[in-house]
Amino acid sequence: MTLRTRLCDLLGIEHPIVQSGMGGVAGPDLVAEVSRAGGLGIVAALHLTADQVRDAIRRVRAATDRPFGVNQFMPDSLRPPTDPASIPERTVAEVQGTLNGFRERLGLPTTTARPAAVPDLVDAAFEVILEERVPVWSIGLGNPSAEQVKRAHARGIKVMAMVTTVEDARTVERAGVDVIVAQGAEAGGHRSTWVKRRTADEACVGTVALVPQVVDAVGVPVVAAGGIADGRGLVAALALGAAGVLLGTRFVATREATAPEFQKKALLESEAEATVVTDAITGLWARYLRNTYTTEYDASGAPVFPALVQSRAAQDIFAHAAKQADRAWFPMPTGQSVGLIRDLPGAADVVAKIVGEAHEVLERLARLAD
Ligand SMILES: Cc1cc2nc3c(=O)[nH]c(=O)nc-3n(C[C@H](O)[C@H](O)[C@H](O)COP(=O)(O)O)c2cc1C
Repeated sequence: MTLRTRLCDLLGIEHPIVQSGMGGVAGPDLVAEVSRAGGLGIVAALHLTADQVRDAIRRVRAATDRPFGVNQFMPDSLRPPTDPASIPERTVAEVQGTLNGFRERLGLPTTTARPAAVPDLVDAAFEVILEERVPVWSIGLGNPSAEQVKRAHARGIKVMAMVTTVEDARTVERAGVDVIVAQGAEAGGHRSTWVKRRTADEACVGTVALVPQVVDAVGVPVVAAGGIADGRGLVAALALGAAGVLLGTRFVATREATAPEFQKKALLESEAEATVVTDAITGLWARYLRNTYTTEYDASGAPVFPALVQSRAAQDIFAHAAKQADRAWFPMPTGQSVGLIRDLPGAADVVAKIVGEAHEVLERLARLAD
């Protein structure tokens, strides 16, 4: 059974189902499994050096000859990353003061040090994507230049950019991207804006409202993201004019995802209202499972460091939580679809099940229309 849309024809995939490139979650095993099943798997390049990106690409290619993508997380504030020396002394004191309260409770050494710089990885990884002629270059939180898109196209690479507003959709279309992912407010992980908005609810339009507005505004295929985890969501997205869906949270709860097992278990046990949009984890707005860290940091009123500097500063706390399998202090990017996820299948089963469910929904709807 297939559900061919123009996204399938454009990318050479069987089913209009895209697995999001997810930092810390989407490695070669997950990607190869989704692509082998006829969807589009996307490797997360976040935090990877150029050599690691090349290695991941080669591992996917060793496992499948189907199309796949590589995702770059590229907000303006990472190009280049903020110099920690530019952070005011008072901000350092307030952030470390809040984190030290957590460290004391966890038995970790406290510090008042200025955080380390975030490595500048985006441009080098992009060169590897070009050299390796990856089938799809996927962009999160980024505004690619027309020049970058041209360089990708010259190597036969399709470009997919994720946005949260109609205006941003128009901007990336002008740069020449081939596919636009419309990310609704329900989505897990970062809000896909290249400049951080002032508040958590700016650029936070729900998927059902956002997708048709983006579809009306641009000429390229639109992929719906945020809140979709089953065949009902796929059909709903197609009804809104999307040519496919991109799923993150659903694929975190799969056997091949590299998220820790305690994180996967937390997803299976959480309801839709268990998430919160906060900048306390990375410094940028993102939706996570609410836990002691997010609740208490947000309540502290402390400022946050710039993009990814915040997560580097809190790394000792997150690493300790990972070691203890302690979900109270570990960051778990998760969308509102979490309440739909109650099993831990293989990623290929997820793709097949969504396609099967979509067909059932379409048959049910066809009977309604008689
Ligand atoms: C665990 C996790 C990690 C993510 N990491 C990235 C990332 O590295 N780059 C990116 O562009 N988007 C990332 N996202 C956001 C997804 O691209 C996507 O917008 C979102 O997952 C869709 O909503 P859903 O989670 O409801 O399916 C991540 C999402 C999750 C849940």
